[in-house]
This record gives sequence, structure tokens and C-alpha cells, in this order.
Amino acid sequence: MIVTVASNRKQVGKTTIAVNNAAIRALAGRSVYLIDIDPNKSSYDWTLKRQSFNVQPPIPACSISGKYLKDTFDKVSSNYNDVVIDTDWRDSKGSQMALEVSDMVIVPVEPGPGSLACLKKMAKRIHAARANNPALWAIVVLVRARGALPIAEFDAIRNFVGKESSMALAGTVIRDDKSLQKAFDDGLAVFEYKTADRRSVVEMYDLYRAQRRKSAALPSLSRVQKHLGKGASCGEFI
Ligand SMILES: Nc1ncnc2c1ncn2[C@@H]1O[C@H](COP(=O)(O)OP(=O)(O)OP(=O)(O)O)[C@@H](O)[C@H]1O
Ligand SMILES: [Mg+2]
Repeated sequence: MIVTVASNRKQVGKTTIAVNNAAIRALAGRSVYLIDIDPNKSSYDWTLKRQSFNVQPPIPACSISGKYLKDTFDKVSSNYNDVVIDTDWRDSKGSQMALEVSDMVIVPVEPGPGSLACLKKMAKRIHAARANNPALWAIVVLVRARGALPIAEFDAIRNFVGKESSMALAGTVIRDDKSLQKAFDDGLAVFEYKTADRRSVVEMYDLYRAQRRKSAALPSLSRVQKHLGKGASCGEFI
């Protein structure tokens, strides 16, 4: 499965989702390759850290300019079960190409002023990509949420997503949590980080489950479930 993480917002959590998603798939026994087309190379650097700390399983990756995405993708995609593509926030040719080669795009949305407008921009990009890749499907996930979600904002996003035939709103919300950064700094996914907030572990797991719903071939995650115990799921879609 090819999954891109994309948003027109900076610093919204794209890389955090991309690396956790790559790791959760690798832990599920999938062979995973991560392509970082963001010039800041942050997800690529995370894989290097993982390598230097000898974290298992390793996640092979490359950092490339978006203009080489198609060539790189054509070379690697048949060798892996999953390719995860981390993009930058710009509407560049590379990130548009990422949407064109993907089965799924995860769109993190941080609730707050301007988030709906930003999501609408993303929806336009997805529509454009679907002209060449009609099977592309999007999961919108609310991220970095603090306290109660702003209801008007949330309703507007839910109504918008509800009208988009190729989008679904993930039933989980990725809450604001410092352990995501701490895990990242050690080259770990949040569920590999010993003192992680359990809630973030569950949220990342549920985001994976939302993807499984569209691709039943994805395995379940007994290794992650070990960290979860009872009451793991917050539901899949709203
Ligand atoms: N749910 C969260 N709770 C708390 N901090 C978060 C969360 N998600 C991401 N962060 C932190 O926010 C910062 C930006 O996250 P990240 O790098 O994943 O975003 P990004 O969209 O990839 O940014 P960029 O546009 O710069 O590539 C990082 O310090 C990260 O640890
Ligand atoms: Mg990033």
C-alpha cells in the first residue's frame, strides 16, 4: 500500500504521522520503505537515528527532491509491501506526484482558525490527483488537539468531509502530547517509547486501524496491542 501524508500547513504533524505509520506497519510485519521529499529531511533523519540506535525493525528510507519522486518510486515500490511518503507543506510538483502514486493520503488537520480553508485547499489537490489516480482515498485526522475540540470548527470540518466522496474523517483524534516528540528524538515510534502516554499509542493504533478498513490485507498488530490492553479502540470513522 502506498500512503502519503500531506497538508498545506507547516508543523501540523505530517512527519510525526508518517514515521509512526511507517513503524506500525513494519511492526506488523510489513516491509516498509519511507520516502522523504521534504527538504527539511526530518523523517529521513528519524530513520538514521533509528539505525544509529539499532532500533528494530529498521526502516529503509531516502531523502530526495520531489522531482525525483516518480523515478525513485518506480524503482522501490515493487520491492516493499508499503511505501510511506512524507511531503512538505508546499503544493509542489513532487507532493502532487506523491498523491498521484498513492492509494491513500492522510491529511492531518489542526483544529483552529483557518483549518477548514486549509483542508479545502488539500481537497482541491486531491481532486486534481484523482484525475490521474481515481482510486486515491483520503483520511482526514484531527491532530495536536488540546482540551475540548472547538465545536463549530469540528462540525464544519465534519460536514465538509462528509460531502467529499473520497474522504473520511478518522474516528480518532491525535491529541497534543510531548511523548510524540520525545519518541521521535530517539528514532522511535510512540508505541516503542517506554514512558509514552498510552493515549497517543492508542490514537496512532486507531489511525492504522482506519487504514486497515480500506485495505483488509493489512495485518492486525499483536505487538502493538500488547501495549494497549483493553478498550483500545476509539472507533474508526466519524
Ligand atoms: N500530536 C502532537 N502533540 C504534540 N506535539 C506534536 C504533535 N504532533 C507533532 N508534534 C510536534 O510538532 C512539531 C511539528 O511536527 P511535525 O514535524 O510532525 O510536523 P510537520 O507537519 O511534518 O512539520 P513541517 O511542515 O515542518 O515538515 C514537532 O516538534 C512534533 O514533535
Ligand atoms: Mg515534516
